[in-house]
Formats: sequence, structure tokens, C-alpha cells
Amino acid sequence: MSFQKLKSEVLSIIESKNLSVDHRLTEVCELLEKNIPYYDWVGFYFKNGDKNELKLRAFAGEPTDHDIIPFGKGICGQVAVTNKNFVVPDVKAQDNYIACSIYVKAEIVVPLFVNGENIGQIDIDSHTADPFSKEDELFLEFVNGEIAKILG
Ligand code: SME
Repeated sequence: MSFQKLKSEVLSIIESKNLSVDHRLTEVCELLEKNIPYYDWVGFYFKNGDKNELKLRAFAGEPTDHDIIPFGKGICGQVAVTNKNFVVPDVKAQDNYIACSIYVKAEIVVPLFVNGENIGQIDIDSHTADPFSKEDELFLEFVNGEIAKILG
């Protein structure tokens, strides 16, 4: 499915006001994991209250042991402090990386901002080497921007 078509599907999930926010987040994860062949695990982490750690809130793919990630640790924890997209074409080349599955070859993490504050992130793991382009970054920034509107 094209990113254009996926954007409209994402919008229709986000606008489903009859569903809880957590349910909508899970549906977005499932949509992306099912329809983008190189997205093998898709999840949303958010800052855990006033703690300097991330907590997994919704995901699609295999369950992970890493539902809590301290700020600064792994790719996710680094994005929590840098506020910048992190594209990893080859996870083996990263020292500060938390492995969730032996099959993962690449990862992309894009921060989610509400009123300019980095409150969470979308995290994608891929079993394909070096699969992510600028188009993925722009698409995931769009997804996070729309989700920010229902988090407020
Ligand atoms: N690989 C991530 C940990 C989360 S899992 O990918 C689900 C990291 O290094 O932060």
C-alpha cells in the first residue's frame, strides 16, 4: 500500500472517536506492520509519568521484554533526549542498541511532539537491511503529528 493511501487509513483510525486512544494507537501499529513489508515490529513508547524512562503503550509484532527503556539507553532512549529522528540502517554497527529480536537488521525511531515537547516516539524494527528512506521519515512524522492531536 502506498504512503499516500496509508495516510488516509491512518487518519480514519485516528478520527474513530468511538475507540479509546490506546485502541487507536494499536490499530495504527497493526496497519503499518501489515501493509509495509519491511515494517516487522511497530510500537509507540511514551515518557512514563515523571520518570526519565519510556514505557511501551501500543505495538504490533512479536511481544518484547523491553517495555521500559531508560532515557539515554538504546536507540529509543537516545531519541528521548536528542529529540531527533534516528535512522539505523544496520543495528550491528550501533554500540548503544537494545536487541529485541535476533532477526532485526535495521530500526527507525521518530519522536512525537505535543506543543513542542518530546513526549514519546514511534519505533519500527525491520528484518530487512537498510530499508528506510526519507519517505519513511516524512510518513512517520505525519503519523506522529496526527496522533499528537488526540493526545493533547
Ligand atoms: N531496539 C530498541 C529497543 C526497543 S525494541 O526495538 C522493540 C532500542 O535500541 O532502543
